Amino acid sequence: MSFRKSLDNQVAEALNEQIKIEASAAFLYFSLASWANVRGLTGMASWFRGEAHGELTHMNLFVDYLNDRDYQAKFGTIEAPTCEWDSPIAAFDMVRTQEHVLLQRMSDLIDLADKHKDHLTHSFLTQFVPQQIADTAEADDVHDRLMLVGGDGHGLILIDQELGREAETEA
Ligand SMILES: [Fe+2]
Ligand SMILES: [Fe+2]
Repeated sequence: MSFRKSLDNQVAEALNEQIKIEASAAFLYFSLASWANVRGLTGMASWFRGEAHGELTHMNLFVDYLNDRDYQAKFGTIEAPTCEWDSPIAAFDMVRTQEHVLLQRMSDLIDLADKHKDHLTHSFLTQFVPQQIADTAEADDVHDRLMLVGGDGHGLILIDQELGREAETEA
């Protein structure tokens, strides 16, 4: 019996869809990194770049899982990400929205796995949850701190440096 038969088609398609979602998230972060870089926000740019690589790592894990379950991953078209933001606050508003959507998506995927009594997929998905909660909280946090300093001037430079240091330690 092929392993594949045990992976429900609806579950497989939802996991395959996640490949595109993680890749799109990566593209948005790459776009943000470039936007920040040409504005002198080099710390923020490194941080965004690090997040982009994180999303690509997630994407790879989904591809590997599908392959391990004997399902060939399919790659669809990725839409161009936004490339203009009015301010760092606006940029982080989009980041936190994306992270909240990704957190909800993880929860929905686990629901779907449970509906199909797919314990293996449930177990695979739970590895993403703590990190996704932390990423969501951090995006909210940076946004809030940018709001506190009014999103520019000396406060912005301090936050930029802090994000740059964080990106360095995580690299
Ligand atoms: Fe992700
Ligand atoms: Fe993320």
